[in-house]
Amino acid sequence: MKKIIIIDGGPRKNMNTAAMLQKIAEGAQSVSEDIEVKTVRLYDMNYKGCMSCMACKIKGKASNVCKFKDELTPILEEIAGADGLVLGSPIYFADVTGLMRTFLERLAFPWLSYNDYSMTAPKKMSVLLIETMNGTPERNNSQGYGSMEYCITAALGQPEHLIAYNTYQVKNYDRYELAGFSEEAKRQWRGEHWEQDLQKAFDAGKRMAEKIMS
Ligand SMILES: Cc1cc2nc3c(=O)[nH]c(=O)nc-3n(C[C@H](O)[C@H](O)[C@H](O)COP(=O)(O)O)c2cc1C
Repeated sequence: MKKIIIIDGGPRKNMNTAAMLQKIAEGAQSVSEDIEVKTVRLYDMNYKGCMSCMACKIKGKASNVCKFKDELTPILEEIAGADGLVLGSPIYFADVTGLMRTFLERLAFPWLSYNDYSMTAPKKMSVLLIETMNGTPERNNSQGYGSMEYCITAALGQPEHLIAYNTYQVKNYDRYELAGFSEEAKRQWRGEHWEQDLQKAFDAGKRMAEKIMS
């Protein structure tokens, strides 16, 4: 049985990021019943970022999987043996969410060797990075996964990217102080792009699964 792990780094269970990740799962599952797709919601978990305990760097016992024990530990161990990894986050202040960044510290620090500065994961795997945001291709302040993307690329392989731009931040713009946005423009964008974004997510999940099964 092959395994894809989807990490949802957004707080909202029924909005844009979750919907994109759900489509990726559906796309992957459409390929084969021999692929298990597991979604982990970071906002449902209690965990810390890297504690700098250095347990992963102890001589003779160095590990490229985090040794610190909390609710994230079993997920990090599962990722070590997975065949595909999908990371999804809304963009907050030009970056991934704090919980996604915190998760990535725990994932990536054990990969880093302070002997030769190489980055080594337990195994290479397919990676898909998802962002959702208010920004548009023309007005985009996102740094995406930022410095963590270098670590992901070095340790796991070149990731694929998918961005859902100009998402609906709320379902009813009349209810909130959001005059900086034109609901009309948002509605028009959504009408032209959202179904395509979901389809792209489905296709990306399918592609990942096909690559894993080939
Ligand atoms: C705290 C916060 C900060 C945000 N910062 C940005 C930003 O810097 N750039 C941007 O394009 N969108 C920003 N947004 C909008 C979200 O990225 C966008 O609404 C996203 O699609 C929300 O994902 P969700 O629907 O899955 O929660 C921000 C939203 C919040 C709540």
